[in-house]
Amino acid sequence: MGKERAIGLMKEHFGPNNAKWIEHTMKVVSYAEKIVEMENIRYPFIRDVAILSAIFHDVGIPIAEKKYGNREGRNQEMEGAIIARNLLNKLMVREDIKERIIYIVAHHHSEDAIDGPDFEILWDADLLTNIEEGRIDMEKYPEEKGFRTKSGEILYKVIHKSH
Ligand SMILES: [Fe+2]
Repeated sequence: MGKERAIGLMKEHFGPNNAKWIEHTMKVVSYAEKIVEMENIRYPFIRDVAILSAIFHDVGIPIAEKKYGNREGRNQEMEGAIIARNLLNKLMVREDIKERIIYIVAHHHSEDAIDGPDFEILWDADLLTNIEEGRIDMEKYPEEKGFRTKSGEILYKVIHKSH
């Protein structure tokens, strides 16, 4: 899958000024790996897409903040999809895996677009990390943002208890 090389490209893309997003990304990757394991995912396609989507999901943030002054919604998703495609082109990633990752990056804030277990894993891993980093308004949880996998919910309960 070239995970280490993908992480290297992601870090290089963010650079030292975006250390906080590198840190965020690495947490999402580690939650994604945990969920893949807990959900007993056997298909390499789903596992590879989930992990690589985690690595690249937020690459649009720096440019979205610069261009639009925020990192919300569609802008970040669309900018991220373009950058993810460029970065994935540097990796030896199968075409179908690449296109699937780009779809997920392009919709990773759009709950209605979730259409498979690979996307659900990224969704839950990002949600867990955002909760942990205090980025989610827990007053609105889970009405506005809920977990999509059993493992995501279990991990949430573990974190929640420890705080
Ligand atoms: Fe994220």
